[in-house]
Amino acid sequence: MFRKILLFTGLLIFSIQLSSQGTPTDFLTADFHKERREAVRAMLPHNSVAVFFANAERNRANDVDYIYHQDPDFYYLTGYKEPNAVLVIFSENQVNTEGKEFNEMLYVQKRDASAEQWNGKRLGIEGAKKQLGFDMAFNGDEFSKIPIDFKTFDMVTFFDFKHDYRDKRGDADLFDLIKSFKEKTNYPSDYNVTKQQLYSMIKSTTVENRANVAQTLGRYLNYYEELKDDELLRNFVEAKDDKVISDIKEKVSLKLEAHNLDSNVIAEIMNTLRETKTEEEMVLLKKAIEISAVGQNEVMKAMHPNMSEVEIQGVHEYVYKKYGAEYEGYPSIVGGGNNGCILHYIENNKTKVGNDLVLMDLGAEYHGYTADVTRTIPANGKFTPEQKQIYDIVYKAQEAGIKASIVGAPFRAPGEASSKVVAEGLISLGIIKETSEARTYFPHGTSHYLGLDVHDRGTYGPYKANTVITVEPGIYIPEGSDCDKKWWGIAVRIEDDILITDEGPVNLSAMAPRTTEAIEEMMKQPSPLDDFILPSLD
Ligand code: GLY
Ligand code: MN
Ligand code: MN
Repeated sequence: MFRKILLFTGLLIFSIQLSSQGTPTDFLTADFHKERREAVRAMLPHNSVAVFFANAERNRANDVDYIYHQDPDFYYLTGYKEPNAVLVIFSENQVNTEGKEFNEMLYVQKRDASAEQWNGKRLGIEGAKKQLGFDMAFNGDEFSKIPIDFKTFDMVTFFDFKHDYRDKRGDADLFDLIKSFKEKTNYPSDYNVTKQQLYSMIKSTTVENRANVAQTLGRYLNYYEELKDDELLRNFVEAKDDKVISDIKEKVSLKLEAHNLDSNVIAEIMNTLRETKTEEEMVLLKKAIEISAVGQNEVMKAMHPNMSEVEIQGVHEYVYKKYGAEYEGYPSIVGGGNNGCILHYIENNKTKVGNDLVLMDLGAEYHGYTADVTRTIPANGKFTPEQKQIYDIVYKAQEAGIKASIVGAPFRAPGEASSKVVAEGLISLGIIKETSEARTYFPHGTSHYLGLDVHDRGTYGPYKANTVITVEPGIYIPEGSDCDKKWWGIAVRIEDDILITDEGPVNLSAMAPRTTEAIEEMMKQPSPLDDFILPSLD
């Protein structure tokens, strides 16, 4: 009881601190975003321009949209959280008609008293200048008159559009901004990033590698529906005659030269920049991870067999919100027993978890940065011998994966280390006979980058210091699997967020226990929710 009073007093002080502060102030600073834009500029080719669009608003039903979430690249470079905006970064300084030099422009939503009364405050031009530190900020409705001739640049690099934006009321929504961009850049109606890459491949084909290129192209045509009707690609795959081939190469060159658009350079730049985190980013990412680890701990204390999956989800998410995390970084996964075998199970609708293992893969998103932490625990507080045997293999696999997460190691190193332990473990329990069968029970990758996106950007090259990855091996044995029935319905994933440093890997989510013994100990602790009893509605 004394513990509980302490906990509640702590929470109360925390709440008072939050409310006395008004709104949070610990966001990334304008200087951070500015420095990141400078880093983009430094990586842009000569005489080029990079164009970034804000994320689309997406409709949920009727006149209700999904909660808006900024595109992470756009957020990283601007700090702007509203929709209907565009950022333009130039590789070299430009000069406007008044002789003023500039190297970036931001177009934002116009202030609008009525819209703001319904949907909240807008930053507007003044806010973009004062709070975000932009010198050249404009209203979105001015983008169609941007005093820049995009055709004079050697390259206009941008992320190609996803076609999930709608034309809404007004003339400065994302639809209109993209329409203006397409008009100003001679955007080909059939622009397709993969097609551009394949055209470039054809253009640089030599006689020696022609057959290989044709084979690769054939595979792409089989895979990508939208490329199947491209006559140049199809003809190249079938071509045997030298004259036909040089004819195709000429046509492909003309197509490539018809515009200066590119969607590869921008991806390479953002992958490189976002792969490693600055100190300022790490403060927020660590906070998101710690909040998520506390969520796991509080659920371990509160868990009992009568809880439903969605109730367990609610406890995690309540803890996140209590600490000021705005969102979940991805839809929460809470799977009891066999449900844990569905890797991204988000129905979370089992009404009682009973005596099963519960796989909980959830991450708080704090000021844009998301955690990704998984714990698998027995709902009744005690692992059965079978559950423990599987769990211990996954634990050992994770330990091996974390140990392999070091500067200079190839991206696949943790995966290889973990997979080896899983395969050996499954063989030792007689669940499989050959290493090659392990994939049946461990069908996903072990690591991904983590940051503004749960599956964050990165180069997939050798690990660099200040990179954060997950290490998340698992074993999933669905009902009906080709092994002894005693293993059926056991699903275990353990996922931690690992900071790679020159001194070795640091487990940022270590606060949540991982061994079976430590989990069982944590589950014996009292929970503040033990006394949270709601009236029955039956
Ligand atoms: N939560 C998604 C993942 O682990 O990748
Ligand atoms: Mn993950
Ligand atoms: Mn996860």
